[in-house]
Amino acid sequence: MISRKIGAIIGAAVLLSCSTEEKKTETMSETSLEGHAHFAHDTHSFGQPEKVAVSSLHLDLDVNFDEKIISGTVTHQLDRASGNELILDVDDLDIQSVKDDQGRTLDFEVKKGDEYGDALHIKLLDDTKSVEVAYATGKGATALLWMNPEQTLGKTAPFMFTQGQAILTRSWIPIQDSPSIRITYTAQVKVPSGLMALMSAENPTEKNDEGVYSFKMDQPIPPYLMALAVGDLTFASLGERSGVYAEPAMIDKASYEFADVEEMTTAAEELYGPYRWGQYDIIVLPPSFPFGGMENPRLTFATPTIIAGDRSLTSLIAHELAHSWSGNLVTNATWDDFWLNEGFTVYFEKRIMEALYGREYAEMLNVLGSQDLENTMEELGRDSKDTHLKLELDGRNPDDGMTDVAYEKGYLFLRWLEEMVGRPTFDEFLKTYFNSHAFETMTTEEFIVYLDENLLNKMDERPDVEAWIYKPGLPEGHPVPVSDRFEKVDQARMAWESGDMNADKIESEEWTTHEWLHFVRGLSADVDVNQMKELDTAFELTQTGNSEIAAAWFQQSIDKGYKDAYPQLEAFLLEVGRRKFLKPLYEALATNPDDLAWAQGVYAKARSGYHAVSVETIDQILNYSEEG
Ligand code: BES
Ligand code: ZN
Repeated sequence: MISRKIGAIIGAAVLLSCSTEEKKTETMSETSLEGHAHFAHDTHSFGQPEKVAVSSLHLDLDVNFDEKIISGTVTHQLDRASGNELILDVDDLDIQSVKDDQGRTLDFEVKKGDEYGDALHIKLLDDTKSVEVAYATGKGATALLWMNPEQTLGKTAPFMFTQGQAILTRSWIPIQDSPSIRITYTAQVKVPSGLMALMSAENPTEKNDEGVYSFKMDQPIPPYLMALAVGDLTFASLGERSGVYAEPAMIDKASYEFADVEEMTTAAEELYGPYRWGQYDIIVLPPSFPFGGMENPRLTFATPTIIAGDRSLTSLIAHELAHSWSGNLVTNATWDDFWLNEGFTVYFEKRIMEALYGREYAEMLNVLGSQDLENTMEELGRDSKDTHLKLELDGRNPDDGMTDVAYEKGYLFLRWLEEMVGRPTFDEFLKTYFNSHAFETMTTEEFIVYLDENLLNKMDERPDVEAWIYKPGLPEGHPVPVSDRFEKVDQARMAWESGDMNADKIESEEWTTHEWLHFVRGLSADVDVNQMKELDTAFELTQTGNSEIAAAWFQQSIDKGYKDAYPQLEAFLLEVGRRKFLKPLYEALATNPDDLAWAQGVYAKARSGYHAVSVETIDQILNYSEEG
């Protein structure tokens, strides 16, 4: 198997000796494995990698907390197929100069693009092999969140992190920002003394006095997986090839919570082949992190809101770990193919959970997932194109189409296939899929061809996979997860709601987080404020330290006008920046004028502590404008 790097060198050598058309074909066939098209057309990037592609890059950066700016240089190694122009995506970057490998100054121009970014055009000389771009990030860099010491656990040191997915990497690195390309990278990052820097790469485990850290990622990754975090961090090992980074005050709790990660990795490998990234670490970020988790290679970024104290929310870790196959190894070629990342990952995540904790446990998670999907479909509209697996995001912020559909409908689709062919056949199929496309990108259409040739050909009648992929809603005959344990919860809830039983008689001693979630989500519309109070008195739900249960409880408190919960709700909204929690809570508050006014007051205080992806969503919900 010829590696991409060697392929690129052969491609470059071929450049010298034949016509343009031959050159292109030769380069493509040498650098692509099994003849897959190299670069899918991506409407969310200005880069034209089919002409000049970046094959690897080096970052030399300074992280300045006083000014909240990252500045320095990025050096791109080029894979030139045709033309003399390199186009990079940039968003709100100050581009200072561009030089090539021989120190020659190159002409460049930033051409205005759209609200998602601009195009940096660089004029190459005939023998330019690499370009060095000197730049600094802008004030509004959407990938970055800068936190003052007060916004951290330790309260003494500042913190910053990046979030690249979907198209935010261009706000901190001038780059061809499309998931259809892959790059290796190295980096040197200077941070204030006393802080540690970590990336989606080989990482340090200790601080150094100079605050200068070096990084290497020598497996090719898509640009949305470039990632950096800087703070007062410490490391604890969790096993031979896994560990956790957190602020010192969080490290013991985090080590306890994630103790099963080695076992998860082993289970994953047994299912679908080797973990190919060497080390698997997790960094626990401050609560302002806008997601639950982000699958940055070798270093999952995680919200502290999954640290419940009882390991009950760790399916999120199984999810991010599973991305080491689905997403990071085999990558969606464009954001329209997002379900190839997330649907496969949810399926894989649930298989890991089942392997570790059993079918009954996994099935509770599946029912909760189906409830999420039901709500999302209701919200989007049953006929909405956003309920197709294959999305049409052209001209839109890809973020807007990234809903539970990709995750949960994607999951049900794979489970449907599994149930038709049987688990052993399906597992073999998936394992081969990951292996044969490792470090490649995949479009939905390429996947359908692969599916036809490797799985559907084994069936007497070809099932209607297109109904799942190109049509709205759920096809008839879709799998329906069921949980006996949840049925018992439903019985208890109904007995209590009908007045047959007092709240303190509900037999909840054995309930896990998931049963509580199901209970709270299931409260019917007729439950009134007094009944909410009764539940709260019996179970102290307003005070729960479990973020998932808290979010579900606050949701019900808003719906039912249970104001006793509002002080805690306010504290939650001020502390937590995870969009999955914020969005439904602010949406519920926005449905009546009193709550809306209250929410606007809370948001005015909270907004500067949220990351741009959350701010963008909540601004819309509350009709917030900067002018007030
Ligand atoms: N890759 C996603 C997060 C993401 C998606 C970031 C789209 C930007 C755009 C990550 O793997 C994820 O799905 N996180 C979920 C948790 C998961 C258990 C469903 C989250 O953050 O809630
Ligand atoms: Zn995911």
